[in-house]
Amino acid sequence: MVKICCIGAGYVGGPTMAVIALKCPEIEVVVVDISEPRITGWNSDRLPIYEPGLDDVVKQCRGRNLFFSTHVERHVGEADIVFVSVNTPTKTRGLGAGKAADLTYWESAARMIADVSLSDKIVVEKSTVPVKTAEAIEKILVHNSRGVRYQILSNPEFLAEGTAINDLFAPDRVLIGGSETPEGRAAVKALRDVYAHWVPDDRIITTNLWSAELSKLAANAFLAQRISSVNAISALCEATGADVAEVANSIGKDSRIGPRFLSASVGFGGSCFQKDILNLVYICECYGLPEVATYWRQVIRINDYQKSRFVNRVVSSMFNTVAEKKVAVLGFAFKKDTGDTRETPAIDVCKGLLGDKAVVSIYDPQVTEEQVQRDLAMNKFDWDHPRHLQPMSPSGKKQVAVSWDPYETARGAHAVCILTEWDEFRRLDYKRMYDAMQKPAFLFDGRNVVDPDKLRQIGFVVYSIGKPLDDWLKNMPAVAS
Ligand code: NAI
Repeated sequence: MVKICCIGAGYVGGPTMAVIALKCPEIEVVVVDISEPRITGWNSDRLPIYEPGLDDVVKQCRGRNLFFSTHVERHVGEADIVFVSVNTPTKTRGLGAGKAADLTYWESAARMIADVSLSDKIVVEKSTVPVKTAEAIEKILVHNSRGVRYQILSNPEFLAEGTAINDLFAPDRVLIGGSETPEGRAAVKALRDVYAHWVPDDRIITTNLWSAELSKLAANAFLAQRISSVNAISALCEATGADVAEVANSIGKDSRIGPRFLSASVGFGGSCFQKDILNLVYICECYGLPEVATYWRQVIRINDYQKSRFVNRVVSSMFNTVAEKKVAVLGFAFKKDTGDTRETPAIDVCKGLLGDKAVVSIYDPQVTEEQVQRDLAMNKFDWDHPRHLQPMSPSGKKQVAVSWDPYETARGAHAVCILTEWDEFRRLDYKRMYDAMQKPAFLFDGRNVVDPDKLRQIGFVVYSIGKPLDDWLKNMPAVAS
């Protein structure tokens, strides 16, 4: 029986390994993590991450050929294939701070693999890593090996949170990079055989190691660039009276462009896009390619611009001040169908409103008060450094309330801001909300989920990203950052 061990039971390690276990009943899969609460969660009825369809997959194979454990060393020692799916955050200090990937967790995992291995192993990079990381990992493993032979593969993960299970069941492609040696090719085949249980042959791509590592960074950069492109156009739409949904529909009909990933919004979030682009920027700078670095950095700049533009719009529309005004925030997760708040635009928007002394009341169907308070008290980039969690800020807490009821959140508010595109926000009773709000009642839709005309009929002053402005907003002073 082939044994797989995955280091890191997070958003990638957990779902990916659960699907491998489901599709390959003859393979034993153990997911290990240094975090006790995470592993306890994976072994309980309330999984540590929310992902549609995940509960069902885990229930089918947990205890059969899928196990979750904190006995990291034991299971790594026993495995034939070791996936490493630890976090690779942005460095917060030292050389490359604010850009480069922090490989502390990866390096400590590699050193541990070298310490405990007594048999040959295939080590698979599942985390997103800078191009050429495999070379560094190999050095650590080889220089610390006691006769054990290692093959390093790059097998980046392309799942998207919120649709992870569908993405894993039917991936657009599985990418495997390996060394172009007989041993490297044998290792690639061994991993290919795992995926071949359910992924069609023509969807499994094999490349050299560096192409695989770089493809993941490039894919995320291209995806984020699409969002920043449509968001940049949304600003021009507001200035000219064009409607970004109509523009996106028109350009998306061009088969060279395609219709997906063209929704204008308050900005992208999530743990990957910003981190991976910053990482790409840093790598380009290190290789003496400043023009390429500047090109990609602009994708982040537009994203930051979009978030501050939204906050400025809220403040300027409400007579240039939100001090002491209650602002209801609907949605805190970085997108629908996940409870993940890492780098969610809601953090920057709420911080912007709090900076202008607003009183913010938040509702999200999947995010707890504890999580919101922690996010709003944290410095940028600190969220992915679990050992250095920041304390809560008492002043932040006073200004922020969290409720499990959207109507309670909006009661007495001057404005509602929609920051996540949860389906349920399309079906809320906005008349009921309006009746319980201060007047004039404002609604700022950062995800274009409501019909602005219907809400205007109720009486709201409505702002929707990239849509023609109503008279109220047109007559307010120009938005300056
Ligand atoms: P995560 O933070 O949810 O999970 C990482 C886990 O690794 C944590 O539970 C942490 O306790 C554990 N860990 C860290 N060091 C460890 C060690 N030495 N031994 C054992 N466990 C250790 O991160 P997530 O979101 O799963 O991401 C993992 C990697 O996958 C990152 O490189 C990310 O960029 C990449 N990725 C993430 C995607 C996403 O949608 N979240 C999609 C594709 C790739």
